[in-house]
Amino acid sequence: MASNVDFRVRKASPVDASGIARVYVSSWRSTYGGLLPDAILNGMSEVRETLFWWTALCSQRSQTVTRVIEDQDGRIVGFISAGPERTGGVARRAEVYTLYLIDGYQRRGFGTKLMSAAAGSLHELGFGGLIVWVLAGNPARAFYERLGAQKVATRTIRMGGRAIQELAFAWPDLTFAHAAASGGPHAG
Ligand SMILES: CC(C)(COP(=O)(O)OP(=O)(O)OC[C@H]1O[C@@H](n2cnc3c(N)ncnc32)[C@H](O)[C@@H]1OP(=O)(O)O)[C@@H](O)C(=O)NCCC(=O)NCCS
Repeated sequence: MASNVDFRVRKASPVDASGIARVYVSSWRSTYGGLLPDAILNGMSEVRETLFWWTALCSQRSQTVTRVIEDQDGRIVGFISAGPERTGGVARRAEVYTLYLIDGYQRRGFGTKLMSAAAGSLHELGFGGLIVWVLAGNPARAFYERLGAQKVATRTIRMGGRAIQELAFAWPDLTFAHAAASGGPHAG
């Protein structure tokens, strides 16, 4: 298996759409089995997601940050997208919209690297805090807590006819990005 130093984080561009879509579909299926209705997971399509990400990346606003992590052959194994908080609840607060790694590349520090890169860019863009919504049963909540986030809200959404509970985790500022980059899990 390639060493962690062979992976790099970089800005995403429209040509990354299919690589991002592959990660997205694969990670949804491995993460959300049992948490979301099977019909939603089975109905996902890499082609549809590619089109979505192509369009999103072509029309990306300057306040949106999308980063990928790729191996030495340019194969994307994870990505993050973030930007202004969608509810506009708190002034200058950003939101992580999506953060996904392929199953076999989790728990190697890559999620921390992506969060750190995105938070650093959001800080430069003038954002002063960050929020992320997580499905209540998703163990990823421990990842955000490990990075210093606190649970701040809950909500119920409907997906595929089912009521799904979500939790919001938030950081009051973006300083955790520097701490994570220098001293976080798997650092060095
Ligand atoms: C959540 C995710 C992005 C985290 O990225 P990662 O690279 O796996 O996490 P890191 O290796 O940087 O983890 C840092 C620390 O966070 C905690 N952590 C991360 N994933 C965890 C999990 N599944 N369960 C419990 N703790 C976890 C651990 O303390 C970990 O340190 P350790 O591995 O030394 O114990 C990644 O696991 C993933 O893509 N999961 C599936 C998709 C998903 O749930 N995305 C989030 C949607 S809101």
